[in-house]
Amino acid sequence: MKKAQNLFPTLPKDAAKPDRPITPERVRLGKMLFFDPRTSGDGAVSCSRCHLPQLCATDALSKSIGAYDRHLIRNAPTIFNAAIHTSQHWDGRFVDVEDQAVHGLTGPGLGNPDDRTVEGRLAAIPGYPEAFHEAFPDDKDPVTARNFALAVGAFERTLIAPSRFDDYLAGKADALSAQETKGLKLFIETGCVDCHKGPGVGGAGFRKFGVFSDYRAATGTMNPDKGRFDLTKNPDDVDKFKIPGLRGVAVTPPYFHDGSVESLPKAIRIMAKIQLDTDLADTEVEAIAAFLGSLTGPMPADYDHPPVLPPGGYRNAGPSH
Ligand code: HEC
Ligand code: HEC
Repeated sequence: MKKAQNLFPTLPKDAAKPDRPITPERVRLGKMLFFDPRTSGDGAVSCSRCHLPQLCATDALSKSIGAYDRHLIRNAPTIFNAAIHTSQHWDGRFVDVEDQAVHGLTGPGLGNPDDRTVEGRLAAIPGYPEAFHEAFPDDKDPVTARNFALAVGAFERTLIAPSRFDDYLAGKADALSAQETKGLKLFIETGCVDCHKGPGVGGAGFRKFGVFSDYRAATGTMNPDKGRFDLTKNPDDVDKFKIPGLRGVAVTPPYFHDGSVESLPKAIRIMAKIQLDTDLADTEVEAIAAFLGSLTGPMPADYDHPPVLPPGGYRNAGPSH
Protein backbone atom coordinates (compact mmCIF):
# COMPACT_ATOMS: atom_id res chain seq x y z
CA MET A 1 0.00 0.00 0.00
CA LYS A 2 2.87 2.39 0.85
CA LYS A 3 4.41 1.82 -2.58
CA ALA A 4 1.06 2.38 -4.29
CA GLN A 5 0.46 5.57 -2.31
CA ASN A 6 3.80 6.95 -3.52
CA LEU A 7 3.16 5.99 -7.15
CA PHE A 8 -0.44 7.16 -7.34
CA PRO A 9 -1.11 10.52 -5.65
CA THR A 10 -4.82 11.05 -4.97
CA LEU A 11 -7.17 12.34 -7.64
CA PRO A 12 -8.15 15.97 -7.15
CA LYS A 13 -11.82 16.76 -6.46
CA ASP A 14 -11.93 18.60 -9.78
CA ALA A 15 -9.41 19.92 -12.30
CA ALA A 16 -9.99 23.67 -11.86
CA LYS A 17 -6.99 26.00 -12.25
CA PRO A 18 -6.78 29.71 -11.40
CA ASP A 19 -7.02 30.67 -15.09
CA ARG A 20 -9.55 27.89 -15.78
CA PRO A 21 -12.19 28.45 -13.11
CA ILE A 22 -15.20 26.17 -12.72
CA THR A 23 -18.18 28.47 -12.23
CA PRO A 24 -21.72 27.05 -12.18
CA GLU A 25 -22.63 29.27 -15.18
CA ARG A 26 -19.69 28.02 -17.25
CA VAL A 27 -20.40 24.38 -16.36
CA ARG A 28 -24.08 24.77 -17.22
CA LEU A 29 -23.27 26.33 -20.61
CA GLY A 30 -20.46 23.86 -21.27
CA LYS A 31 -22.74 20.93 -20.63
CA MET A 32 -25.38 22.33 -23.02
CA LEU A 33 -22.80 22.81 -25.76
CA PHE A 34 -21.33 19.36 -25.16
CA PHE A 35 -24.68 17.69 -25.82
CA ASP A 36 -25.79 19.99 -28.69
CA PRO A 37 -25.49 18.62 -32.26
CA ARG A 38 -25.94 22.14 -33.63
CA THR A 39 -22.27 22.71 -32.78
CA SER A 40 -21.32 20.58 -35.81
CA GLY A 41 -21.01 21.28 -39.52
CA ASP A 42 -23.83 18.95 -40.54
CA GLY A 43 -25.96 19.55 -37.43
CA ALA A 44 -25.96 15.88 -36.52
CA VAL A 45 -22.91 15.44 -34.30
CA SER A 46 -22.43 16.58 -30.71
CA CYS A 47 -19.35 15.97 -28.59
CA SER A 48 -21.45 13.40 -26.77
CA ARG A 49 -21.97 11.32 -29.92
CA CYS A 50 -18.49 9.88 -29.48
CA HIS A 51 -18.28 10.37 -25.71
CA LEU A 52 -21.57 8.70 -24.81
CA PRO A 53 -22.79 8.55 -21.21
CA GLN A 54 -23.98 4.98 -21.82
CA LEU A 55 -20.43 3.87 -22.71
CA CYS A 56 -18.25 5.62 -20.11
CA ALA A 57 -17.79 8.62 -22.43
CA THR A 58 -16.59 6.55 -25.40
CA ASP A 59 -18.41 5.22 -28.49
CA ALA A 60 -17.13 1.62 -28.37
CA LEU A 61 -16.01 1.92 -32.01
CA SER A 62 -12.46 1.09 -32.96
CA LYS A 63 -12.47 4.41 -34.86
CA SER A 64 -15.08 7.15 -34.44
CA ILE A 65 -17.38 8.49 -37.14
CA GLY A 66 -17.70 12.28 -37.38
CA ALA A 67 -19.81 14.86 -39.19
CA TYR A 68 -20.64 14.02 -42.83
CA ASP A 69 -19.93 10.38 -41.89
CA ARG A 70 -16.20 10.96 -42.05
CA HIS A 71 -14.19 8.21 -40.41
CA LEU A 72 -11.65 9.43 -37.89
CA ILE A 73 -8.23 7.84 -37.71
CA ARG A 74 -8.30 7.00 -34.00
CA ASN A 75 -10.29 5.49 -31.14
CA ALA A 76 -12.24 7.82 -28.83
CA PRO A 77 -10.82 7.79 -25.29
CA THR A 78 -13.04 8.44 -22.29
CA ILE A 79 -13.08 12.06 -21.16
CA PHE A 80 -13.65 11.14 -17.52
CA ASN A 81 -10.51 12.21 -15.64
CA ALA A 82 -8.94 13.44 -18.91
CA ALA A 83 -8.66 17.06 -17.74
CA ILE A 84 -5.86 16.08 -15.34
CA HIS A 85 -3.72 14.67 -18.17
CA THR A 86 -0.72 16.79 -19.16
CA SER A 87 -1.79 16.76 -22.83
CA GLN A 88 -4.81 15.71 -24.90
CA HIS A 89 -5.26 13.22 -27.76
CA TRP A 90 -3.28 10.04 -28.40
CA ASP A 91 -0.46 12.08 -29.92
CA GLY A 92 -0.68 14.85 -27.31
CA ARG A 93 -1.24 17.55 -29.91
CA PHE A 94 -3.35 19.71 -27.57
CA VAL A 95 -2.09 21.12 -24.28
CA ASP A 96 -5.35 20.99 -22.32
CA VAL A 97 -9.09 20.33 -22.65
CA GLU A 98 -9.79 23.92 -23.75
CA ASP A 99 -7.18 23.72 -26.51
CA GLN A 100 -8.76 20.42 -27.55
CA ALA A 101 -12.31 21.84 -27.54
CA VAL A 102 -11.55 24.96 -29.59
CA HIS A 103 -9.76 22.93 -32.26
CA GLY A 104 -12.48 20.31 -32.09
CA LEU A 105 -14.96 22.73 -33.67
CA THR A 106 -13.15 22.68 -36.99
CA GLY A 107 -11.64 19.20 -36.65
CA PRO A 108 -12.97 16.12 -38.44
CA GLY A 109 -15.32 15.21 -35.56
CA LEU A 110 -17.57 18.29 -35.64
CA GLY A 111 -16.43 19.39 -39.10
CA ASN A 112 -17.27 23.12 -39.09
CA PRO A 113 -15.67 25.08 -41.93
CA ASP A 114 -14.50 27.82 -39.52
CA ASP A 115 -15.18 29.28 -36.06
CA ARG A 116 -17.31 32.13 -37.40
CA THR A 117 -19.91 29.78 -38.86
CA VAL A 118 -20.57 28.05 -35.55
CA GLU A 119 -20.41 31.32 -33.57
CA GLY A 120 -23.07 32.80 -35.85
CA ARG A 121 -25.23 29.69 -35.60
CA LEU A 122 -25.18 29.63 -31.78
CA ALA A 123 -25.71 33.40 -31.51
CA ALA A 124 -28.91 33.02 -33.56
CA ILE A 125 -30.48 30.48 -31.16
CA PRO A 126 -32.43 32.41 -28.51
CA GLY A 127 -31.15 31.27 -25.13
CA TYR A 128 -27.50 30.83 -26.07
CA PRO A 129 -26.46 34.52 -26.09
CA GLU A 130 -28.00 34.80 -22.59
CA ALA A 131 -26.22 31.67 -21.33
CA PHE A 132 -22.88 32.87 -22.77
CA HIS A 133 -23.45 36.27 -21.18
CA GLU A 134 -24.10 34.72 -17.77
CA ALA A 135 -20.96 32.59 -18.06
CA PHE A 136 -18.77 35.45 -19.36
CA PRO A 137 -20.33 38.64 -17.94
CA ASP A 138 -17.29 40.81 -18.71
CA ASP A 139 -17.34 40.11 -22.45
CA LYS A 140 -19.20 42.49 -24.75
CA ASP A 141 -19.67 39.86 -27.41
CA PRO A 142 -19.47 36.56 -25.50
CA VAL A 143 -20.56 34.02 -28.16
CA THR A 144 -17.08 33.10 -29.34
CA ALA A 145 -15.21 29.89 -30.09
CA ARG A 146 -12.83 30.75 -27.26
CA ASN A 147 -15.67 30.99 -24.74
CA PHE A 148 -17.16 27.80 -26.18
CA ALA A 149 -13.87 26.11 -25.27
CA LEU A 150 -13.67 27.70 -21.81
CA ALA A 151 -17.23 26.58 -21.00
CA VAL A 152 -16.85 23.05 -22.37
CA GLY A 153 -13.48 22.85 -20.61
CA ALA A 154 -15.03 23.93 -17.28
CA PHE A 155 -17.61 21.15 -17.70
CA GLU A 156 -14.90 18.58 -18.50
CA ARG A 157 -12.86 19.72 -15.49
CA THR A 158 -15.72 18.56 -13.25
CA LEU A 159 -15.71 15.03 -14.73
CA ILE A 160 -13.46 13.37 -12.19
CA ALA A 161 -14.48 9.80 -11.37
CA PRO A 162 -12.79 8.28 -8.30
CA SER A 163 -13.14 4.54 -7.69
CA ARG A 164 -12.52 1.89 -5.05
CA PHE A 165 -8.80 2.22 -5.77
CA ASP A 166 -8.94 5.71 -4.28
CA ASP A 167 -10.48 4.31 -1.10
CA TYR A 168 -7.58 1.87 -0.99
CA LEU A 169 -5.04 4.68 -1.47
CA ALA A 170 -6.76 6.57 1.34
CA GLY A 171 -5.81 3.68 3.64
CA LYS A 172 -8.78 1.32 3.38
CA ALA A 173 -6.99 -1.97 2.67
CA ASP A 174 -10.18 -3.99 2.20
CA ALA A 175 -11.44 -1.68 -0.56
CA LEU A 176 -9.66 -4.06 -2.98
CA SER A 177 -10.23 -7.83 -3.10
CA ALA A 178 -7.32 -10.25 -2.66
CA GLN A 179 -7.25 -10.80 -6.43
CA GLU A 180 -7.21 -7.05 -7.15
CA THR A 181 -4.44 -6.50 -4.59
CA LYS A 182 -2.42 -9.26 -6.24
CA GLY A 183 -2.97 -7.53 -9.59
CA LEU A 184 -1.83 -4.19 -8.17
CA LYS A 185 1.36 -5.84 -6.88
CA LEU A 186 2.01 -7.38 -10.31
CA PHE A 187 1.22 -4.06 -12.02
CA ILE A 188 3.96 -2.47 -9.91
CA GLU A 189 6.50 -5.32 -9.99
CA THR A 190 6.19 -6.11 -13.71
CA GLY A 191 7.03 -2.48 -14.48
CA CYS A 192 3.72 -1.17 -15.83
CA VAL A 193 4.24 1.74 -13.42
CA ASP A 194 7.34 2.87 -15.32
CA CYS A 195 4.75 4.51 -17.53
CA HIS A 196 1.26 4.21 -16.01
CA LYS A 197 1.60 6.19 -12.76
CA GLY A 198 0.30 9.38 -11.16
CA PRO A 199 -3.30 10.16 -10.23
CA GLY A 200 -4.57 9.17 -13.71
CA VAL A 201 -2.59 5.87 -13.72
CA GLY A 202 -1.01 7.34 -16.84
CA GLY A 203 -1.92 10.50 -18.73
CA ALA A 204 1.51 12.13 -18.56
CA GLY A 205 4.38 11.80 -21.02
CA PHE A 206 4.95 10.01 -24.32
CA ARG A 207 6.46 6.62 -24.95
CA LYS A 208 7.04 4.42 -27.91
CA PHE A 209 4.24 1.90 -28.48
CA GLY A 210 6.40 -1.14 -29.16
CA VAL A 211 9.63 -0.68 -27.18
CA PHE A 212 10.78 -4.25 -27.94
CA SER A 213 8.95 -4.95 -31.21
CA ASP A 214 6.67 -3.27 -33.76
CA TYR A 215 3.18 -2.78 -32.35
CA ARG A 216 1.63 -3.60 -35.72
CA ALA A 217 2.84 -7.19 -35.58
CA ALA A 218 1.64 -7.59 -31.98
CA THR A 219 -1.86 -6.18 -32.50
CA GLY A 220 -2.32 -7.43 -36.06
CA THR A 221 -3.27 -3.94 -37.32
CA MET A 222 -2.37 -2.56 -40.75
CA ASN A 223 -2.16 0.89 -39.17
CA PRO A 224 0.11 3.49 -40.78
CA ASP A 225 -0.23 5.75 -37.69
CA LYS A 226 3.19 6.84 -36.40
CA GLY A 227 1.84 8.84 -33.45
CA ARG A 228 3.78 11.96 -32.52
CA PHE A 229 6.08 11.57 -35.51
CA ASP A 230 3.20 12.49 -37.81
CA LEU A 231 2.98 15.74 -35.85
CA THR A 232 6.64 16.64 -35.19
CA LYS A 233 8.47 14.78 -38.03
CA ASN A 234 11.17 14.10 -35.45
CA PRO A 235 12.62 10.59 -36.07
CA ASP A 236 12.77 10.03 -32.28
CA ASP A 237 8.99 10.30 -32.18
CA VAL A 238 8.16 7.41 -34.52
CA ASP A 239 5.34 5.36 -32.93
CA LYS A 240 5.37 7.50 -29.77
CA PHE A 241 1.98 8.01 -28.16
CA LYS A 242 0.70 9.60 -25.00
CA ILE A 243 0.75 7.14 -22.12
CA PRO A 244 -3.01 6.79 -21.69
CA GLY A 245 -4.61 7.12 -18.27
CA LEU A 246 -6.04 3.73 -17.31
CA ARG A 247 -8.93 4.93 -15.17
CA GLY A 248 -12.13 3.34 -16.49
CA VAL A 249 -10.11 1.16 -18.86
CA ALA A 250 -12.03 -2.05 -18.06
CA VAL A 251 -15.22 -0.57 -19.53
CA THR A 252 -13.76 1.28 -22.53
CA PRO A 253 -12.90 -1.36 -25.14
CA PRO A 254 -11.68 -1.62 -27.84
CA TYR A 255 -8.09 -0.84 -26.90
CA PHE A 256 -5.16 1.18 -28.18
CA HIS A 257 -5.14 4.31 -30.34
CA ASP A 258 -6.61 2.41 -33.29
CA GLY A 259 -9.01 0.24 -31.27
CA SER A 260 -7.28 -2.80 -32.74
CA VAL A 261 -7.59 -5.04 -29.68
CA GLU A 262 -10.98 -6.17 -28.37
CA SER A 263 -10.24 -7.53 -24.93
CA LEU A 264 -8.47 -6.19 -21.86
CA PRO A 265 -6.55 -9.43 -21.14
CA LYS A 266 -5.14 -9.35 -24.68
CA ALA A 267 -4.17 -5.69 -24.31
CA ILE A 268 -2.39 -6.47 -21.01
CA ARG A 269 -0.50 -9.39 -22.55
CA ILE A 270 0.61 -7.24 -25.51
CA MET A 271 1.73 -4.42 -23.20
CA ALA A 272 3.85 -6.80 -21.09
CA LYS A 273 5.41 -8.33 -24.21
CA ILE A 274 6.20 -5.30 -26.35
CA GLN A 275 6.76 -2.64 -23.65
CA LEU A 276 8.55 -4.78 -21.05
CA ASP A 277 9.69 -7.96 -22.90
CA THR A 278 7.78 -10.04 -20.35
CA ASP A 279 5.55 -13.08 -20.91
CA LEU A 280 2.78 -13.05 -18.31
CA ALA A 281 1.08 -16.27 -17.15
CA ASP A 282 -2.70 -16.46 -17.59
CA THR A 283 -3.24 -16.11 -13.84
CA GLU A 284 -1.09 -12.97 -13.79
CA VAL A 285 -3.02 -11.43 -16.67
CA GLU A 286 -6.30 -12.20 -14.86
CA ALA A 287 -5.06 -10.56 -11.65
CA ILE A 288 -3.90 -7.41 -13.47
CA ALA A 289 -7.24 -7.24 -15.28
CA ALA A 290 -9.01 -7.51 -11.92
CA PHE A 291 -6.89 -4.66 -10.55
CA LEU A 292 -7.62 -2.50 -13.61
CA GLY A 293 -11.32 -3.19 -13.00
CA SER A 294 -11.02 -1.46 -9.63
CA LEU A 295 -10.15 1.78 -11.47
CA THR A 296 -13.73 2.24 -12.69
CA GLY A 297 -15.83 4.45 -10.46
CA PRO A 298 -19.43 5.61 -10.68
CA MET A 299 -20.22 8.02 -13.53
CA PRO A 300 -19.63 11.67 -12.59
CA ALA A 301 -22.84 13.27 -11.31
CA ASP A 302 -25.28 14.35 -14.00
CA TYR A 303 -23.29 13.16 -17.04
CA ASP A 304 -26.17 10.82 -17.85
CA HIS A 305 -28.73 13.63 -17.75
CA PRO A 306 -28.42 15.52 -21.04
CA PRO A 307 -29.74 19.06 -20.55
CA VAL A 308 -32.80 20.50 -22.24
CA LEU A 309 -31.43 22.77 -24.97
CA PRO A 310 -32.80 26.06 -26.25
CA PRO A 311 -35.02 25.30 -29.26
CA GLY A 312 -33.91 26.39 -32.70
CA GLY A 313 -34.00 24.52 -35.99
CA TYR A 314 -30.98 23.69 -38.05
CA ARG A 315 -31.28 24.33 -41.75
CA ASN A 316 -29.20 21.54 -43.21
CA ALA A 317 -28.43 21.53 -46.88
CA GLY A 318 -28.43 17.82 -47.52
CA PRO A 319 -25.27 16.14 -48.74
CA SER A 320 -23.61 19.23 -50.27
CA HIS A 321 -21.22 21.06 -47.98
C1 HEC B 1 -16.71 12.04 -34.15
C2 HEC B 1 -16.38 11.62 -32.80
C3 HEC B 1 -15.95 12.66 -31.82
C4 HEC B 1 -16.56 13.86 -31.52
C5 HEC B 1 -17.78 14.46 -32.16
C6 HEC B 1 -15.79 14.43 -30.45
N1 HEC B 1 -14.76 13.61 -30.10
FE1 HEC B 1 -13.48 13.87 -28.59
N2 HEC B 1 -12.32 12.40 -29.31
C7 HEC B 1 -12.66 11.56 -30.36
C8 HEC B 1 -11.50 10.81 -30.77
C9 HEC B 1 -11.43 9.79 -31.89
C10 HEC B 1 -10.44 11.22 -29.94
C11 HEC B 1 -8.98 10.80 -30.04
C12 HEC B 1 -8.38 11.64 -31.17
C13 HEC B 1 -6.89 11.47 -31.36
O1 HEC B 1 -6.18 11.18 -30.41
O2 HEC B 1 -6.42 11.67 -32.49
C14 HEC B 1 -11.00 12.20 -29.01
C15 HEC B 1 -10.30 12.80 -27.98
C16 HEC B 1 -10.86 13.68 -27.07
C17 HEC B 1 -10.22 14.17 -25.89
C18 HEC B 1 -8.83 13.76 -25.40
C19 HEC B 1 -8.89 12.73 -24.30
C20 HEC B 1 -7.52 12.18 -23.95
O3 HEC B 1 -7.44 11.35 -23.03
O4 HEC B 1 -6.52 12.54 -24.59
C21 HEC B 1 -11.08 15.04 -25.28
C22 HEC B 1 -10.84 15.82 -24.01
C23 HEC B 1 -12.25 15.12 -26.12
N3 HEC B 1 -12.10 14.26 -27.18
C24 HEC B 1 -13.34 15.95 -25.89
C25 HEC B 1 -14.26 16.24 -26.90
C26 HEC B 1 -15.12 17.41 -26.91
C27 HEC B 1 -15.16 18.48 -25.84
C28 HEC B 1 -15.84 17.37 -28.06
C29 HEC B 1 -16.81 18.39 -28.60
C30 HEC B 1 -16.25 19.73 -28.75
C31 HEC B 1 -15.46 16.13 -28.74
N4 HEC B 1 -14.49 15.50 -28.01
C32 HEC B 1 -16.05 15.67 -29.90
C33 HEC B 1 -13.91 11.49 -30.94
C34 HEC B 1 -14.80 12.53 -30.93
C1 HEC C 1 7.18 1.98 -21.67
C2 HEC C 1 5.88 2.53 -21.29
C3 HEC C 1 4.75 1.57 -20.99
C4 HEC C 1 4.76 0.46 -20.17
C5 HEC C 1 5.94 -0.11 -19.40
C6 HEC C 1 3.41 -0.06 -20.17
N1 HEC C 1 2.61 0.71 -20.95
FE1 HEC C 1 0.61 0.42 -21.26
N2 HEC C 1 0.65 1.88 -22.67
C7 HEC C 1 1.73 2.67 -23.00
C8 HEC C 1 1.41 3.46 -24.17
C9 HEC C 1 2.32 4.47 -24.86
C10 HEC C 1 0.11 3.10 -24.56
C11 HEC C 1 -0.67 3.63 -25.76
C12 HEC C 1 -0.52 2.65 -26.92
C13 HEC C 1 -1.29 3.10 -28.15
O1 HEC C 1 -0.80 3.93 -28.89
O2 HEC C 1 -2.40 2.65 -28.36
C14 HEC C 1 -0.36 2.12 -23.57
C15 HEC C 1 -1.63 1.54 -23.57
C16 HEC C 1 -2.10 0.66 -22.60
C17 HEC C 1 -3.42 0.13 -22.54
C18 HEC C 1 -4.58 0.48 -23.49
C19 HEC C 1 -5.33 1.69 -22.97
C20 HEC C 1 -6.51 2.08 -23.82
O3 HEC C 1 -7.31 2.90 -23.34
O4 HEC C 1 -6.66 1.63 -24.96
C21 HEC C 1 -3.48 -0.73 -21.45
C22 HEC C 1 -4.68 -1.51 -20.97
C23 HEC C 1 -2.17 -0.73 -20.86
N3 HEC C 1 -1.36 0.13 -21.58
C24 HEC C 1 -1.80 -1.50 -19.76
C25 HEC C 1 -0.49 -1.73 -19.40
C26 HEC C 1 -0.06 -2.77 -18.50
C27 HEC C 1 -0.97 -3.73 -17.77
C28 HEC C 1 1.31 -2.70 -18.44
C29 HEC C 1 2.24 -3.62 -17.70
C30 HEC C 1 2.15 -5.03 -18.09
C31 HEC C 1 1.72 -1.59 -19.29
N4 HEC C 1 0.61 -1.03 -19.86
C32 HEC C 1 3.04 -1.19 -19.46
C33 HEC C 1 2.94 2.71 -22.34
C34 HEC C 1 3.38 1.71 -21.47
